[in-house]
Amino acid sequence: MAKVKKVWFCRNCGYESAKWLGRCPSCGEWNAMVEENIVQSPQISSFSGMPSKAQPVPITAIENRDEERIVSGLQEFDRVLGGGLVKGSLVLIGGEPGIGKSTLSLQIPFACSRLKTLYVSGEESARQIKLRGDRVSSALPEAGGPATGANCYILPEILLENILEKAKSLGAELLIIDSIQTIYSQRIDASAGSISQIRECAAALLRFAKESNVPVIIIGHITKEGIIAGPKILEHIVDVVLQFEGDAKNAYRVVRSIKNRFGSTSELAVYRMTDSGLKEVVNPSEMFMPMHEKGLSGIAVAAMIDGTRPFLIEIQSLVSSAAYGMPQRSSTGFDVRRMNMLLAVLEKRVGFKLSQKDVFLNIAGGLKITDPACDLAVVAAILSSNFDLGISEKSAFAAEVGLSGEIRPVSQIERRISEAAKLGFDRIYVSSFCDVAAGLEKKIEIVKLSNIREISKYLLPLHRFEKK
Ligand code: TYD
Ligand code: MG
Repeated sequence: MAKVKKVWFCRNCGYESAKWLGRCPSCGEWNAMVEENIVQSPQISSFSGMPSKAQPVPITAIENRDEERIVSGLQEFDRVLGGGLVKGSLVLIGGEPGIGKSTLSLQIPFACSRLKTLYVSGEESARQIKLRGDRVSSALPEAGGPATGANCYILPEILLENILEKAKSLGAELLIIDSIQTIYSQRIDASAGSISQIRECAAALLRFAKESNVPVIIIGHITKEGIIAGPKILEHIVDVVLQFEGDAKNAYRVVRSIKNRFGSTSELAVYRMTDSGLKEVVNPSEMFMPMHEKGLSGIAVAAMIDGTRPFLIEIQSLVSSAAYGMPQRSSTGFDVRRMNMLLAVLEKRVGFKLSQKDVFLNIAGGLKITDPACDLAVVAAILSSNFDLGISEKSAFAAEVGLSGEIRPVSQIERRISEAAKLGFDRIYVSSFCDVAAGLEKKIEIVKLSNIREISKYLLPLHRFEKK
């Protein structure tokens, strides 16, 4: 007889407990425990994630072999994965609703029509998917003849056991599950989307992928807080996590690999949502480029590197007198604690009185940036807004700012400088501790700063800041 057990799970991290707890001891989240029934039947094998009849092998006897990869033909997608989909891998595509997860997944069988794909949808009808297919197919004729999606099979189904059986009988070479929150397994008595279901389904899909050597793509929704809904545990089970960033209202989308067992995690791909699906943006720097009038204050351009690519990105700031007692500090796309640190450095080391000011920061294009090389541009944008003096739109910044106000060098400075020069910038501010190859100065003026104090000397009184 199957035994029913009541278990409490943390909604945030998947921590399991026999009783309710106010605060999750694993991730520290308050009021996140939810109760679920679990049927423990004797047939449920414990999850191993590997073929069940494996034998121990000496490590020296294992052949060195590259993973077999399926190249989909969607170049940016293949690149983020590290050169294509690895056979037998489990890939999670996460993102907010409406960001383009279903669109990107459907583009794969259309781009690679020889790949027999089973697209399982628990959210949309076959007709709806067909309509989306018509839209994306018109955009993909480059990949060797018109894209027909001839080998793409649609299955509106939510029962996991049926899905796996159909995938086997069809002989699918790629399985896409849209989405993990809508499917359920008979083995567990809990509703679809609950933590125990997500965990069980993901584990079963992983077993299927490893045993059949078929890659499986699962789509997962993201909660408001930006974590993949359901437990973090999903991220631990899968081989690759690709996450969509950006605003669903904005046309640009960034797909970033945040975990990759078969490649680098510092890859990202940039897409633009068009009438006919997601289009790759080949030169992303241009997309984040300044699109403002000349001489506007509060704007500075950072030469950053994200993943393995240099970008020039516009940083916007607005500084105004605090209307209420407590000044507001808010930032989109940039860590607000880091912004506060930079404000404190400005106050302490340079004497700018910003404590009675509201400071807002925004990164253009909906990108989230973590590169410390953006510090100097953030500082410049804040100062520019504070004094209402525009920075020349042909100036870029690439340096980190330290706690004592020192301007520190950043990695790969030459690539940043070359990218700025290539895009027509005529001046770049870097740290005086940078070693820059000799030839670069011919292409662009390189201004070296050693302390944040010089920025006021350098930028404010001179023509570099053009008075509006
Ligand atoms: P979708 O891929 O369904 O998002 P998700 O699966 O992540 O929830 O679609 C995202 C949005 O993109 C949707 O609002 C419609 C729009 N869209 C286009 O603008 N052009 C297109 O060609 C397609 C297919 C969708
Ligand atoms: Mg969808």
